[in-house]
Amino acid sequence: MDSNKNKNALNLFYERFGLCVISGGSGGLGVEFLELLCGLNKNMAVINLSRREAENPGFSTFINISADFASCADLPVIGSKVKAAIEGANSSGRVLLINNCGIGEYGEFCGTDLEQLLAIVHVNSVAPVFLSKIVVPFIKQNGGAVLNVCSTAAFQPTPVMAVYGASKAFLLNWSIALAAEMEGDGCTVTALCPGPMDTEFFARAGYDSSMLPDSITLSTRAVAEYGLNLLMRGKTHGVAGFKNKVLNAMSRMLPLSLSGKMAKMAMEKSFARFLKKNKNFQKDWNSSKKALS
Ligand SMILES: NC(=O)c1ccc[n+]([C@@H]2O[C@H](COP(=O)([O-])OP(=O)(O)OC[C@H]3O[C@@H](n4cnc5c(N)ncnc54)[C@H](OP(=O)(O)O)[C@@H]3O)[C@@H](O)[C@H]2O)c1
Repeated sequence: MDSNKNKNALNLFYERFGLCVISGGSGGLGVEFLELLCGLNKNMAVINLSRREAENPGFSTFINISADFASCADLPVIGSKVKAAIEGANSSGRVLLINNCGIGEYGEFCGTDLEQLLAIVHVNSVAPVFLSKIVVPFIKQNGGAVLNVCSTAAFQPTPVMAVYGASKAFLLNWSIALAAEMEGDGCTVTALCPGPMDTEFFARAGYDSSMLPDSITLSTRAVAEYGLNLLMRGKTHGVAGFKNKVLNAMSRMLPLSLSGKMAKMAMEKSFARFLKKNKNFQKDWNSSKKALS
């Protein structure tokens, strides 16, 4: 499809949405989703959930709900606020839920902090199930869609980011199952699987983004555009970027145990390359990670 035709198709599709609930609209990919959606339909009412406030790129109604998904403690309060905000927005049209918030870790299991590992499970796996439980009934009533931001890490074991990869594998499998359950209900579920993007994500996880191979790193704009297109086409899932698609297809041909070993070798190689270039990294990264958390 040429780019003008595609823009028109996206406009026509997203104009039918009256409400969007998004998690993690305060940073990285979330900011990009909000900007793109605003360009397609600024009359949509938007409800964002994150710890920092997200900026309103120009929607007529924009509500920030302060939410920390790192533990289950606040879920009942967050749930009541989301329900009240949806009812208060009194919007008509389809409902969109984007489960985008996510965090990671870098390091071997024995050296990583338990609280951080449990937070990954909560933010990446529990929060999407929780938010879907609240928003999907509204989607069933009005029609609409769920977009779950997974990762290429969802397709194979990911040593040194082991809990992260497993949390995204959960999200991917759950997404596809939900899509099958809801087929014919006027509701689609799409799992977007990006490879690396240069956002705050890696620094927060204790992994320097200069370790990322440039050849497979995509801009947040390209990934968000791909995700909105994927959802419009009603796809259950998709990997962003041609090279990521190829790498993903290759790793899925390997037995799981071998693909885990290959992933470990790739991580070790990129870390060794990085240490060679940045001699002070090990001394500095703890303090920068602390500042970002
Ligand atoms: N960057 C990559 O290379 C990459 C690759 C594949 C998949 N992904 C996935 O893409 C999604 C977006 O990541 P990103 O790269 O845009 O990362 P990012 O820049 O770090 O943004 C993450 C978002 O999640 C929110 N978040 C983090 N912890 C939270 C918590 N405890 N409670 C509520 N919200 C929280 C953040 O908001 P606050 O800090 O304001 O709470 C922020 O808005 C994530 O699901 C990530 O797993 C990223």
